[in-house]
Amino acid sequence: MTMHNSMHNTSAIGTPLSPSATKVMLLGSGELGKECIIALQRLGVETIAVDRYANAPGHQVAHRAHVINMADAVALRALIDQEKPHIIVPEIEAIATATLLEIEQQGIARVIPTARAAYLTMNREGIRRLAAETLGLPTSPYRFANSLEELRTAIDNEIGYPCLVKPVMSSSGKGQSKVDCASELEAAWQYAAAGSRVNQGRVIVEGFVAFEYEITQLTVRAIGHSGAPETFFCEPIGHTQIHGDYVESWQPQTMSPMALQRARDIAQKVTDDLGGLGIFGVELFVRGDQVWFSEVSPRPHDTGMVTLCSQRLNEFELHARAILGLPVDVSLRSPGASAVIYGRLEETGIAFSGVAEALQVPQSELRLFGKPESFTKRRMGVALATGCDTREALERARQVSSKVTPISTKPSSKNQNIE
Ligand SMILES: Nc1ncnc2c1ncn2[C@@H]1O[C@H](COP(=O)(O)OP(=O)(O)OP(=O)(O)O)[C@@H](O)[C@H]1O
Ligand SMILES: [Mg+2]
Repeated sequence: MTMHNSMHNTSAIGTPLSPSATKVMLLGSGELGKECIIALQRLGVETIAVDRYANAPGHQVAHRAHVINMADAVALRALIDQEKPHIIVPEIEAIATATLLEIEQQGIARVIPTARAAYLTMNREGIRRLAAETLGLPTSPYRFANSLEELRTAIDNEIGYPCLVKPVMSSSGKGQSKVDCASELEAAWQYAAAGSRVNQGRVIVEGFVAFEYEITQLTVRAIGHSGAPETFFCEPIGHTQIHGDYVESWQPQTMSPMALQRARDIAQKVTDDLGGLGIFGVELFVRGDQVWFSEVSPRPHDTGMVTLCSQRLNEFELHARAILGLPVDVSLRSPGASAVIYGRLEETGIAFSGVAEALQVPQSELRLFGKPESFTKRRMGVALATGCDTREALERARQVSSKVTPISTKPSSKNQNIE
């Protein structure tokens, strides 16, 4: 092992851009990667931001930026060999995870939290089978299918209607639909095939869980007093999703003591199994005292952006500390909420008006991600607010979000021409 690698295990941090630098490579540099990079920079880490397009949010705040297809094993390996990071932090699911397994095995870099976690969670099948079949966690009933016929049989014989059909490889609700009756099935199959990240034509069908609310249980594996990895739980985050994409979140979500206990037991079991160091977003459905595991991200979670205002250390700072072997503090600072700001325009280089009015809302904050291109449903920013309770915080976050307006910067607006 090189001196650098052994330095990481003792949590010494070097000087960026010098031979002693502690180098961290982010695979994926969207809004979550950007905040991770900022947190790492503040601890004196040298940061390398990677994404598939130029000027991604994280590229704009890192020491170096690279554009590659991270699902391309050859390109990924070449970049790792060139940059020689000590730590690799996946921010997205669509990565050549076989390369990460190889990198970890060969001791070239540490993969956060582990290469196996990145591998298992990139595909819904890997993590669902682990959770339900190996760990015995409660989940929705599910089956996998490779064709419309297989899908129909699985629903008729096992799952029933209503159900959810999702590509095994997709995120942010892409290609996902709720199917209420047999006549809607073919369209759902087609939509899943079109929305699949890798056109595998394999889907998961899940029985619909009539939950009361859903939460993200942020769970941190960090070095504790014992000198070994310990588990720390943030306050639960409640959120609403539209078409499988998060629109609002708040912290803390009120839960019955039994439901909270069960949520944390589930989070503990799944994160113990995935192992390593870092933060995890464990997604759970809740009804009364009943809790179902849905999925887990072995990285900061989009609904966890609320922690930018609600916790003493936000989820990105917690991730940075955990992966560097530093102590964490998961305490809540104040009840808080987040509300997503969408692009609403299909255009590059847009502007945002109303920012000053928005920030007149008491206890508010704003993040504009700086994405070079806007799409109608692309997440371009997030409004944040604290309050005396989550209801007040959410009201404020909504106000902030509603006042920020994406505007066209083209001389003659494309949108007007279309009309
Ligand atoms: N079996 C289910 N029963 C009821 N609702 C569900 C079920 N599965 C998913 N949902 C709803 O759809 C949302 C998105 O589902 P899921 O998390 O599986 O998709 P995703 O594409 O991984 O989304 P993301 O990447 O944003 O987490 C859930 O948060 C929940 O609101
Ligand atoms: Mg999800």
